[in-house]
Amino acid sequence: MQSEINPWSNSQNIDTDKLFREFGIEPAFPVIKSLKNPPAFFRRGIVSGQRDYAPIADAIENKKKFYVMTGFMPSGHPHLGHLMVMKEVAWHTQMGGTGYISVADREAHAVRGISWEKCKSFGKEYLKCLYALGFTGNTYYQSENNALKDLAFEGAIKINFSELSAIYGFGQDTALAHAMSVATQVADILYPQTEEGPAPTVVPVGIDQDPHIRLTRDVANKMRMFTLLKTPFGVSIRSKNAPSEAMDSVEKAFSGCKRYEGHIDVSGMDIAAVDSIVRKIETECGGYGFFLPAATYHTFLQGLQGGKMSSSVPDSLFKFDEPEKDIKKKIMGALTGGRMTLEEQKKLGGEPEKCSVYLLNLFHTLDDDSEVQEMCRACRAGELMCGACKKETFERVREFLKDFNEKMDEVSHLVEE
Ligand code: TRP
Ligand code: SF4
Repeated sequence: MQSEINPWSNSQNIDTDKLFREFGIEPAFPVIKSLKNPPAFFRRGIVSGQRDYAPIADAIENKKKFYVMTGFMPSGHPHLGHLMVMKEVAWHTQMGGTGYISVADREAHAVRGISWEKCKSFGKEYLKCLYALGFTGNTYYQSENNALKDLAFEGAIKINFSELSAIYGFGQDTALAHAMSVATQVADILYPQTEEGPAPTVVPVGIDQDPHIRLTRDVANKMRMFTLLKTPFGVSIRSKNAPSEAMDSVEKAFSGCKRYEGHIDVSGMDIAAVDSIVRKIETECGGYGFFLPAATYHTFLQGLQGGKMSSSVPDSLFKFDEPEKDIKKKIMGALTGGRMTLEEQKKLGGEPEKCSVYLLNLFHTLDDDSEVQEMCRACRAGELMCGACKKETFERVREFLKDFNEKMDEVSHLVEE
Protein backbone atom coordinates (compact mmCIF):
# COMPACT_ATOMS: atom_id res chain seq x y z
CA MET A 1 0.00 0.00 0.00
CA GLN A 2 1.23 3.46 -0.83
CA SER A 3 1.80 5.77 2.10
CA GLU A 4 -0.13 8.99 2.31
CA ILE A 5 2.87 11.26 2.17
CA ASN A 6 4.92 11.11 -0.94
CA PRO A 7 7.71 13.66 -1.15
CA TRP A 8 7.42 14.03 -4.93
CA SER A 9 3.68 14.51 -5.13
CA ASN A 10 1.83 17.78 -5.15
CA SER A 11 -1.08 16.78 -2.98
CA GLN A 12 -2.57 19.59 -0.96
CA ASN A 13 -4.55 19.68 2.25
CA ILE A 14 -2.74 17.00 4.12
CA ASP A 15 -4.23 16.69 7.56
CA THR A 16 -1.11 17.20 9.63
CA ASP A 17 -2.60 16.16 12.96
CA LYS A 18 -3.68 12.86 11.52
CA LEU A 19 -0.29 12.30 9.91
CA PHE A 20 1.49 13.19 13.13
CA ARG A 21 -0.58 10.62 14.99
CA GLU A 22 -0.29 7.96 12.34
CA PHE A 23 3.47 8.17 11.93
CA GLY A 24 4.41 8.86 15.52
CA ILE A 25 5.53 12.45 15.12
CA GLU A 26 5.39 14.15 18.52
CA PRO A 27 4.29 17.72 19.21
CA ALA A 28 7.21 20.14 19.45
CA PHE A 29 5.97 22.14 22.39
CA PRO A 30 6.83 19.77 25.30
CA VAL A 31 10.46 19.34 24.24
CA ILE A 32 11.23 22.95 23.44
CA LYS A 33 10.09 24.19 26.83
CA SER A 34 13.61 23.59 28.11
CA LEU A 35 15.10 26.08 25.60
CA LYS A 36 15.95 29.35 27.28
CA ASN A 37 15.50 31.44 24.14
CA PRO A 38 13.24 29.63 21.73
CA PRO A 39 13.20 31.21 18.27
CA ALA A 40 10.03 32.57 16.66
CA PHE A 41 9.38 29.41 14.64
CA PHE A 42 9.08 27.39 17.86
CA ARG A 43 7.30 30.06 19.92
CA ARG A 44 4.68 30.60 17.23
CA GLY A 45 4.02 26.92 16.60
CA ILE A 46 5.27 27.09 13.01
CA VAL A 47 7.57 24.19 13.74
CA SER A 48 4.92 22.06 15.35
CA GLY A 49 6.21 18.49 15.22
CA GLN A 50 9.40 16.63 16.05
CA ARG A 51 11.01 13.24 16.40
CA ASP A 52 13.67 12.70 19.04
CA TYR A 53 14.30 16.42 19.51
CA ALA A 54 14.88 16.16 23.28
CA PRO A 55 18.60 15.27 22.91
CA ILE A 56 19.01 18.25 20.56
CA ALA A 57 17.37 20.64 23.05
CA ASP A 58 19.65 19.17 25.70
CA ALA A 59 22.71 19.63 23.48
CA ILE A 60 21.78 23.27 22.85
CA GLU A 61 21.26 24.08 26.51
CA ASN A 62 24.29 22.16 27.75
CA LYS A 63 26.65 22.95 24.89
CA LYS A 64 27.07 19.36 23.77
CA LYS A 65 27.98 18.25 20.30
CA PHE A 66 25.21 17.95 17.70
CA TYR A 67 24.71 18.29 13.96
CA VAL A 68 22.08 20.05 11.95
CA MET A 69 21.72 18.88 8.38
CA THR A 70 19.30 19.31 5.56
CA GLY A 71 19.24 19.17 1.79
CA PHE A 72 17.84 21.29 -1.00
CA MET A 73 16.87 20.00 -4.37
CA PRO A 74 18.23 22.49 -6.94
CA SER A 75 15.32 22.19 -9.33
CA GLY A 76 14.65 25.94 -9.49
CA HIS A 77 15.42 29.26 -7.83
CA PRO A 78 15.10 29.44 -4.05
CA HIS A 79 11.94 31.26 -2.96
CA LEU A 80 9.73 32.25 -0.05
CA GLY A 81 8.70 28.64 0.54
CA HIS A 82 12.28 27.63 1.37
CA LEU A 83 12.89 30.37 3.86
CA MET A 84 11.59 28.58 6.95
CA VAL A 85 13.89 25.56 6.68
CA MET A 86 16.80 27.86 5.92
CA LYS A 87 16.12 29.89 9.05
CA GLU A 88 15.85 26.72 11.11
CA VAL A 89 19.19 25.41 9.91
CA ALA A 90 20.92 28.75 10.39
CA TRP A 91 19.51 29.08 13.90
CA HIS A 92 20.70 25.62 14.92
CA THR A 93 24.24 26.40 13.72
CA GLN A 94 24.15 29.58 15.77
CA MET A 95 23.13 27.47 18.77
CA GLY A 96 26.30 25.41 18.46
CA GLY A 97 25.27 22.75 15.96
CA THR A 98 27.74 21.76 13.27
CA GLY A 99 25.98 22.49 10.00
CA TYR A 100 25.81 20.32 6.88
CA ILE A 101 23.98 21.23 3.71
CA SER A 102 23.52 18.87 0.81
CA VAL A 103 22.71 20.22 -2.62
CA ALA A 104 20.62 17.29 -3.82
CA ASP A 105 21.68 17.46 -7.45
CA ARG A 106 21.42 13.69 -7.85
CA GLU A 107 17.76 13.90 -6.92
CA ALA A 108 17.09 16.96 -9.10
CA HIS A 109 18.81 15.33 -12.07
CA ALA A 110 17.24 11.89 -11.62
CA VAL A 111 13.72 12.91 -10.64
CA ARG A 112 13.25 16.30 -12.27
CA GLY A 113 15.61 15.99 -15.22
CA ILE A 114 17.56 19.14 -14.36
CA SER A 115 20.91 19.38 -16.15
CA TRP A 116 24.06 19.24 -14.04
CA GLU A 117 24.93 22.80 -15.05
CA LYS A 118 21.57 24.10 -13.89
CA CYS A 119 21.89 22.10 -10.67
CA LYS A 120 25.19 23.82 -10.05
CA SER A 121 23.88 27.34 -10.54
CA PHE A 122 20.63 26.85 -8.62
CA GLY A 123 22.63 25.17 -5.88
CA LYS A 124 24.82 28.23 -5.51
CA GLU A 125 21.74 30.40 -5.02
CA TYR A 126 20.53 28.20 -2.17
CA LEU A 127 23.92 28.28 -0.49
CA LYS A 128 24.10 32.05 -0.78
CA CYS A 129 20.72 32.38 0.94
CA LEU A 130 21.87 30.12 3.75
CA TYR A 131 25.09 32.00 4.38
CA ALA A 132 23.22 35.30 4.24
CA LEU A 133 20.91 34.01 6.99
CA GLY A 134 23.89 33.24 9.21
CA PHE A 135 24.51 29.57 8.41
CA THR A 136 27.97 28.23 9.15
CA GLY A 137 29.33 24.79 8.37
CA ASN A 138 29.86 22.34 5.55
CA THR A 139 28.19 22.22 2.18
CA TYR A 140 28.49 19.82 -0.74
CA TYR A 141 26.90 18.70 -3.97
CA GLN A 142 25.81 15.06 -3.82
CA SER A 143 27.32 14.26 -7.22
CA GLU A 144 30.76 15.47 -6.15
CA ASN A 145 30.99 13.76 -2.78
CA ASN A 146 32.55 10.31 -3.12
CA ALA A 147 32.46 9.45 0.58
CA LEU A 148 28.74 10.23 0.50
CA LYS A 149 28.18 8.00 -2.50
CA ASP A 150 30.04 5.16 -0.76
CA LEU A 151 27.86 5.63 2.30
CA ALA A 152 24.76 5.59 0.09
CA PHE A 153 25.91 2.23 -1.28
CA GLU A 154 26.42 0.81 2.21
CA GLY A 155 23.03 2.11 3.27
CA ALA A 156 21.42 0.66 0.15
CA ILE A 157 22.38 -2.81 1.39
CA LYS A 158 19.73 -2.27 4.07
CA ILE A 159 16.98 -1.04 1.72
CA ASN A 160 14.86 -3.35 -0.39
CA PHE A 161 12.27 -2.75 -3.08
CA SER A 162 9.29 -3.72 -0.98
CA GLU A 163 10.22 -0.98 1.50
CA LEU A 164 10.56 1.52 -1.32
CA SER A 165 7.16 0.60 -2.65
CA ALA A 166 5.55 0.70 0.81
CA ILE A 167 7.10 4.04 1.69
CA TYR A 168 7.09 5.88 -1.63
CA GLY A 169 4.79 3.87 -3.82
CA PHE A 170 7.68 2.90 -6.12
CA GLY A 171 6.68 0.29 -8.68
CA GLN A 172 7.91 -1.70 -11.64
CA ASP A 173 8.41 1.41 -13.74
CA THR A 174 10.29 3.51 -11.19
CA ALA A 175 13.74 4.45 -12.48
CA LEU A 176 16.64 2.89 -10.65
CA ALA A 177 18.26 6.32 -10.37
CA HIS A 178 15.25 7.51 -8.42
CA ALA A 179 15.83 4.73 -5.92
CA MET A 180 19.51 5.67 -5.86
CA SER A 181 18.63 9.26 -5.06
CA VAL A 182 16.64 7.96 -2.08
CA ALA A 183 19.69 6.03 -0.86
CA THR A 184 21.73 9.19 -1.38
CA GLN A 185 19.38 11.19 0.81
CA VAL A 186 19.63 8.53 3.52
CA ALA A 187 23.40 8.94 3.25
CA ASP A 188 23.07 12.76 3.47
CA ILE A 189 21.38 12.44 6.81
CA LEU A 190 23.92 9.99 8.25
CA TYR A 191 26.96 11.61 6.67
CA PRO A 192 27.83 14.11 9.45
CA GLN A 193 28.18 11.24 11.92
CA THR A 194 30.56 9.38 9.60
CA GLU A 195 32.67 12.51 9.11
CA GLU A 196 32.95 13.72 12.69
CA GLY A 197 31.76 10.86 14.89
CA PRO A 198 28.39 9.83 16.27
CA ALA A 199 26.25 12.61 17.76
CA PRO A 200 22.58 13.57 17.65
CA THR A 201 21.62 15.04 14.30
CA VAL A 202 18.55 17.16 13.65
CA VAL A 203 17.04 17.43 10.20
CA PRO A 204 14.64 20.35 9.77
CA VAL A 205 12.13 19.45 7.07
CA GLY A 206 8.56 19.91 5.95
CA ILE A 207 6.17 17.10 6.71
CA ASP A 208 6.43 15.87 3.10
CA GLN A 209 9.99 14.72 3.79
CA ASP A 210 9.04 12.50 6.72
CA PRO A 211 9.18 9.28 4.65
CA HIS A 212 12.90 9.93 4.18
CA ILE A 213 13.35 10.46 7.90
CA ARG A 214 11.57 7.21 8.74
CA LEU A 215 13.56 5.27 6.19
CA THR A 216 16.83 6.77 7.41
CA ARG A 217 16.07 5.95 11.03
CA ASP A 218 15.35 2.40 9.97
CA VAL A 219 18.56 2.11 7.93
CA ALA A 220 20.64 3.73 10.70
CA ASN A 221 19.28 1.20 13.13
CA LYS A 222 20.08 -1.70 10.80
CA MET A 223 23.63 -0.40 10.33
CA ARG A 224 24.32 -0.53 14.06
CA MET A 225 26.20 -3.51 15.52
CA PHE A 226 24.16 -3.43 18.70
CA THR A 227 20.73 -2.48 19.93
CA LEU A 228 19.87 -1.95 23.55
CA LEU A 229 16.78 -3.24 25.26
CA LYS A 230 15.57 -2.20 28.69
CA THR A 231 14.79 -5.25 30.83
CA PRO A 232 13.35 -5.51 34.36
CA PHE A 233 16.89 -6.21 35.59
CA GLY A 234 18.87 -3.67 33.63
CA VAL A 235 19.90 -3.49 30.01
CA SER A 236 20.24 -6.18 27.40
CA ILE A 237 22.86 -5.47 24.72
CA ARG A 238 21.73 -7.28 21.60
CA SER A 239 24.15 -8.04 18.83
CA LYS A 240 23.14 -7.58 15.21
CA ASN A 241 26.03 -9.16 13.35
CA ALA A 242 28.53 -7.65 15.78
CA PRO A 243 31.95 -9.25 15.18
CA SER A 244 33.16 -11.42 18.03
CA GLU A 245 35.87 -8.95 19.06
CA ALA A 246 33.19 -6.30 19.58
CA MET A 247 31.26 -8.74 21.76
CA ASP A 248 34.47 -9.46 23.69
CA SER A 249 35.09 -5.75 24.29
CA VAL A 250 31.54 -5.20 25.47
CA GLU A 251 31.83 -8.15 27.83
CA LYS A 252 35.06 -6.71 29.22
CA ALA A 253 33.59 -3.23 29.65
CA PHE A 254 30.83 -4.32 32.04
CA SER A 255 32.05 -6.28 35.04
CA GLY A 256 29.54 -8.79 36.30
CA CYS A 257 27.60 -8.90 33.02
CA LYS A 258 26.25 -12.14 31.60
CA ARG A 259 27.18 -13.15 28.08
CA TYR A 260 24.85 -15.29 26.01
CA GLU A 261 24.91 -16.39 22.38
CA GLY A 262 23.58 -13.17 20.82
CA HIS A 263 23.39 -10.77 23.71
CA ILE A 264 25.03 -9.51 26.88
CA ASP A 265 22.96 -8.55 29.92
CA VAL A 266 24.03 -5.80 32.28
CA SER A 267 22.32 -5.07 35.56
CA GLY A 268 22.30 -2.03 37.81
CA MET A 269 23.14 0.55 35.14
CA ASP A 270 20.89 2.97 33.37
CA ILE A 271 20.46 2.68 29.67
CA ALA A 272 22.08 6.02 28.78
CA ALA A 273 25.36 5.05 30.45
CA VAL A 274 25.39 1.64 28.77
CA ASP A 275 24.52 3.27 25.47
CA SER A 276 27.50 5.58 25.35
CA ILE A 277 29.97 2.81 26.27
CA VAL A 278 28.54 0.42 23.67
CA ARG A 279 28.54 3.12 20.98
CA LYS A 280 32.19 3.85 21.67
CA ILE A 281 33.14 0.18 21.41
CA GLU A 282 31.16 -0.11 18.20
CA THR A 283 33.05 2.74 16.54
CA GLU A 284 36.39 1.40 17.79
CA CYS A 285 35.55 -1.90 16.11
CA GLY A 286 34.85 -0.19 12.79
CA GLY A 287 31.09 0.24 13.19
CA TYR A 288 29.07 3.40 12.72
CA GLY A 289 27.55 3.85 16.17
CA PHE A 290 24.82 6.02 14.68
CA PHE A 291 22.35 8.03 16.69
CA LEU A 292 18.98 7.77 14.98
CA PRO A 293 18.43 11.13 13.29
CA ALA A 294 16.01 13.58 14.86
CA ALA A 295 13.71 15.84 12.86
CA THR A 296 11.61 18.94 13.19
CA TYR A 297 8.51 19.45 11.05
CA HIS A 298 7.26 22.88 10.09
CA THR A 299 3.81 23.68 8.79
CA PHE A 300 3.71 25.09 5.29
CA LEU A 301 3.16 28.71 4.51
CA GLN A 302 0.11 28.84 2.26
CA GLY A 303 0.46 30.46 -1.14
CA LEU A 304 -0.29 34.15 -1.55
CA GLN A 305 -3.37 33.29 -3.60
CA GLY A 306 -4.48 30.70 -1.03
CA GLY A 307 -3.78 27.02 -1.68
CA LYS A 308 -0.37 25.51 -1.98
CA MET A 309 2.77 27.57 -2.35
CA SER A 310 4.54 26.12 -5.35
CA SER A 311 6.89 27.40 -8.02
CA SER A 312 4.43 26.01 -10.58
CA VAL A 313 2.02 28.76 -9.43
CA PRO A 314 4.11 31.94 -9.84
CA ASP A 315 1.61 34.17 -8.00
CA SER A 316 1.71 31.95 -4.93
CA LEU A 317 5.20 33.11 -3.95
CA PHE A 318 8.06 35.42 -4.79
CA LYS A 319 11.71 34.77 -5.40
CA PHE A 320 14.24 36.79 -3.48
CA ASP A 321 15.56 38.72 -6.47
CA GLU A 322 12.23 39.44 -8.11
CA PRO A 323 11.57 43.06 -9.17
CA GLU A 324 9.91 45.06 -6.42
CA LYS A 325 6.90 45.98 -8.50
CA ASP A 326 6.12 42.31 -9.18
CA ILE A 327 6.37 41.46 -5.50
CA LYS A 328 4.14 44.39 -4.67
CA LYS A 329 1.56 43.20 -7.16
CA LYS A 330 1.56 39.71 -5.68
CA ILE A 331 1.15 40.96 -2.13
CA MET A 332 -1.51 43.52 -3.02
CA GLY A 333 -3.37 40.81 -4.92
CA ALA A 334 -3.04 38.20 -2.19
CA LEU A 335 -5.97 36.22 -0.85
CA THR A 336 -6.80 37.59 2.60
CA GLY A 337 -9.15 36.75 5.40
CA GLY A 338 -11.00 39.98 4.76
CA ARG A 339 -14.74 40.41 4.17
CA MET A 340 -16.62 41.28 1.02
CA THR A 341 -17.16 44.94 1.94
CA LEU A 342 -15.48 47.46 4.20
CA GLU A 343 -18.64 47.83 6.30
CA GLU A 344 -18.79 44.12 6.85
CA GLN A 345 -15.12 43.98 7.79
CA LYS A 346 -15.57 46.79 10.31
CA LYS A 347 -18.54 45.00 11.80
CA LEU A 348 -17.33 41.39 11.77
CA GLY A 349 -13.56 41.78 11.68
CA GLY A 350 -11.24 39.80 9.42
CA GLU A 351 -10.10 36.19 9.73
CA PRO A 352 -6.31 36.28 10.12
CA GLU A 353 -5.95 32.51 10.52
CA LYS A 354 -7.18 32.14 6.93
CA CYS A 355 -5.18 35.06 5.59
CA SER A 356 -2.01 34.50 3.55
CA VAL A 357 -0.87 38.05 4.37
CA TYR A 358 -1.20 37.47 8.09
CA LEU A 359 0.65 34.17 7.79
CA LEU A 360 3.45 35.79 5.80
CA ASN A 361 3.91 38.22 8.69
CA LEU A 362 3.66 35.49 11.29
CA PHE A 363 6.28 33.39 9.51
CA HIS A 364 8.72 35.97 8.32
CA THR A 365 8.30 39.70 8.66
CA LEU A 366 7.58 40.51 12.31
CA ASP A 367 10.31 39.84 14.85
CA ASP A 368 8.29 40.80 17.87
CA ASP A 369 5.53 38.48 19.07
CA SER A 370 3.63 41.46 20.43
CA GLU A 371 3.46 42.97 16.94
CA VAL A 372 1.99 39.76 15.59
CA GLN A 373 -0.55 39.67 18.40
CA GLU A 374 -1.49 43.27 17.76
CA MET A 375 -1.94 42.61 14.05
CA CYS A 376 -4.15 39.66 14.81
CA ARG A 377 -6.20 41.58 17.35
CA ALA A 378 -6.69 44.64 15.14
CA CYS A 379 -7.73 42.45 12.23
CA ARG A 380 -10.26 40.49 14.28
CA ALA A 381 -11.61 43.68 15.83
CA GLY A 382 -12.28 45.18 12.41
CA GLU A 383 -9.82 48.01 13.05
CA LEU A 384 -7.33 46.96 10.40
CA MET A 385 -8.37 47.00 6.74
CA CYS A 386 -6.78 44.73 4.16
CA GLY A 387 -5.54 47.44 1.83
CA ALA A 388 -3.52 49.20 4.50
CA CYS A 389 -2.42 45.92 6.00
CA LYS A 390 -1.06 44.66 2.68
CA LYS A 391 0.77 47.92 2.04
CA GLU A 392 2.49 47.74 5.41
CA THR A 393 3.32 44.10 4.79
CA PHE A 394 4.86 44.93 1.45
CA GLU A 395 7.02 47.60 3.09
CA ARG A 396 8.31 45.09 5.61
CA VAL A 397 8.95 42.53 2.89
CA ARG A 398 10.83 45.15 0.88
CA GLU A 399 13.02 45.99 3.88
CA PHE A 400 13.72 42.34 4.52
CA LEU A 401 14.60 41.62 0.90
CA LYS A 402 16.83 44.65 0.61
CA ASP A 403 18.81 43.52 3.61
CA PHE A 404 18.77 39.86 2.52
CA ASN A 405 20.06 40.66 -0.96
CA GLU A 406 22.82 42.88 0.42
CA LYS A 407 23.92 40.07 2.69
CA MET A 408 23.85 37.62 -0.21
CA ASP A 409 26.23 39.88 -2.12
CA GLU A 410 28.53 40.01 0.88
CA VAL A 411 28.70 36.22 1.20
CA SER A 412 28.78 35.36 -2.50
CA HIS A 413 32.54 34.68 -2.35
CA LEU A 414 31.78 31.74 -0.01
CA VAL A 415 30.01 29.80 -2.73
CA GLU A 416 32.52 30.26 -5.57
CA GLU A 417 35.11 27.59 -5.70
N1 TRP B 1 14.51 15.52 -0.91
C1 TRP B 1 14.68 16.86 -0.43
C2 TRP B 1 13.76 17.80 -1.23
O1 TRP B 1 13.01 17.36 -2.05
C3 TRP B 1 16.09 17.34 -0.52
C4 TRP B 1 17.07 16.59 0.34
C5 TRP B 1 18.15 15.90 -0.11
C6 TRP B 1 17.11 16.49 1.76
N2 TRP B 1 18.87 15.39 0.92
C7 TRP B 1 18.27 15.74 2.07
C8 TRP B 1 16.28 16.96 2.78
C9 TRP B 1 18.63 15.46 3.40
C10 TRP B 1 16.64 16.67 4.09
C11 TRP B 1 17.79 15.93 4.39
O2 TRP B 1 13.77 18.99 -1.03
FE1 SF4 C 1 -5.38 39.67 6.44
FE2 SF4 C 1 -4.62 42.07 7.18
FE3 SF4 C 1 -6.91 41.71 5.91
FE4 SF4 C 1 -6.65 40.88 8.42
S1 SF4 C 1 -6.55 42.99 7.68
S2 SF4 C 1 -7.57 39.76 6.74
S3 SF4 C 1 -4.51 40.23 8.41
S4 SF4 C 1 -4.87 41.36 5.09
